[in-house]
Amino acid sequence: MASAMNAGGGGGGVLKKMGLFRVQYYCVMGAVAAAVVLVTVRYMPAPTDTGGGAGSTVRASSSSTAAAPGGEEERGENVWSAGEERRKKAASASASAQRVVVFNFGDSNSDTGGVAAVMGIHIAPPEGRAYFHHPTGRLSDGRVILDFICESLNTHHLSPYMKPLGSDYSNGVNFAIAGSTATPGDTRFSLDVQLDQFLFFKERCLESIERGEDAPIDKKGFESALYTMDIGHNDVTGVLYLPYDKILAKLPPMVAEIKKAIESLHKNGARKFWIHGTGALGCLPQKLAMPRDDDSDLDEHGCITKFNDAAKKFNALLSETCDDLRLQMTDSTIVFVDMFAVKYDLVANHTKYGIEKPLMTCCGHGGPPYNYDPKRSCMTSDMDLCELGAKFISWDGVHFTDAANGMVAAKVLSGEFSIPRIKLTGLVTPAKPKDSRL
Ligand SMILES: *[C@@H]1O[C@H](CO)[C@@H](O)[C@H](O)[C@H]1NC(C)=O
Repeated sequence: MASAMNAGGGGGGVLKKMGLFRVQYYCVMGAVAAAVVLVTVRYMPAPTDTGGGAGSTVRASSSSTAAAPGGEEERGENVWSAGEERRKKAASASASAQRVVVFNFGDSNSDTGGVAAVMGIHIAPPEGRAYFHHPTGRLSDGRVILDFICESLNTHHLSPYMKPLGSDYSNGVNFAIAGSTATPGDTRFSLDVQLDQFLFFKERCLESIERGEDAPIDKKGFESALYTMDIGHNDVTGVLYLPYDKILAKLPPMVAEIKKAIESLHKNGARKFWIHGTGALGCLPQKLAMPRDDDSDLDEHGCITKFNDAAKKFNALLSETCDDLRLQMTDSTIVFVDMFAVKYDLVANHTKYGIEKPLMTCCGHGGPPYNYDPKRSCMTSDMDLCELGAKFISWDGVHFTDAANGMVAAKVLSGEFSIPRIKLTGLVTPAKPKDSRL
C-alpha cells in the first residue's frame, strides 16, 4: 500500500494517469488523486445490466452514456418548461441582476455529472437511487452539497460545463470534475483548467450578447454571481502517505493555487466567493480500510489523527488565505466554510443525526467495520449495500450519501461554520425576480 500511494504522491503523474482510465483498478490505485475518479470506473457495469459483464467495466458507447446520466435528469427534476423558459428569456435583461447565478469549481464533492459526461462513463444503479432514482453521474446515491445549495437559493441544479444534453446554463455553470486537484497538471481538469473554461464561457457569452444574440448569462449576471469552490480534497489525499512534517510542507502550494484562482476570478469581475475547506479525510472508510500497524493513531471516534490533522492544517491555511484576500479585495465578500468541522461533527455526534455506523460505507464490500474493499469498491453485483433509507454518512468510502450531504448542506447554510458568519442566502440577491412577468 505504501508504495502504491507513493506512486500517487509522486505528484505530476496523477493527471496523466487519468488517461489510464480503463486500466485495471489496482494499477492506478496508487494515483490517489485519481482514486476518486476510479471509483467511478467501478461504477461502470456492462450496458446490459446482467451482471455477467460487470467485471469487465465495459465502456458504453458515448451516445447512450451521455443520454442516460445527462439528458433526462435535470429536465425531469426541476427545470422550467419551454414556455417558462421563453418568458424567462424575455425578462432576462431586466431580471438578470436579481437572478441567482452560481459558478462552481471543484472535484467529486460537487460534481453534478461532469466526469461521467466528459469521460463517457456509464454509471449504473444503485448510484442515484435515493433521490434521482437513476444514475446522474454524481458519485452518490443522490445529491451533492452543491445541489442542496442550489435548492436553498431556489434555483435548479447546476449543469456541468461539458454535459452535452439537457444542460441549462441560465443559472450558472458547474465546472467541477471528480478527481480534480487544485494543483495544476496533477489532473486533467485541475482548477486552472476549470478557470480557463469559465473564462471561455464568459467570453463567448459576452461576445454573443455584443452581436445581439442570446446568451445564458449577461455581464450583470457574471458580476452578481456567486463563485463557489470546493477543491483540495484530492491534493491533500495525494500526500497523506508522507510523514506528517512532509505533508505540511506540501500544503501551502495547494492553497496558493486556490488563492490564485480567486484572484483571477476577481480580476474578471467576481465579487462574491464561497470557499469550502476540505473534510475529515481521516474518517473516510477508504482511508480507514488501508492496512495499518496498529490503532494507536486512531482518535476517540475511530478516525485517523494524522490525516485529520493534515486536513485541519489545510483548512487553517485556506482560511488565512481568505483573511488575506479580504483585506486585499475590499470590494468583495469572501466566505470560508470550515468543512472539517461540519463533517467531523457528523461522525463525532453521529447518534444525534440518527447515524449508527459513521465509519462504514453504505455501498461496499466486506461488512463491518468499514465495508470497504479497494479492489471492489461499490459497483459489483455482490456488493454489500445498505437498506434504502438507512442513514449512512459514506456512500462508497469516499463520497457522502444524499442523506449526509443534506445534513452537511444544512450546516453549511446555517452560517455557523462560515468566516465571516454570513449565510449564503444573504450573500445573493433574492432568487425570485421581482419582475412580475415571471
Ligand atoms: C458535538 O456536538 C456538541 C453539541 O452540539 C458540540 O459542542 C461539539 O462540538 C460536537 N463535536 C464535534 C466534534 O463537532
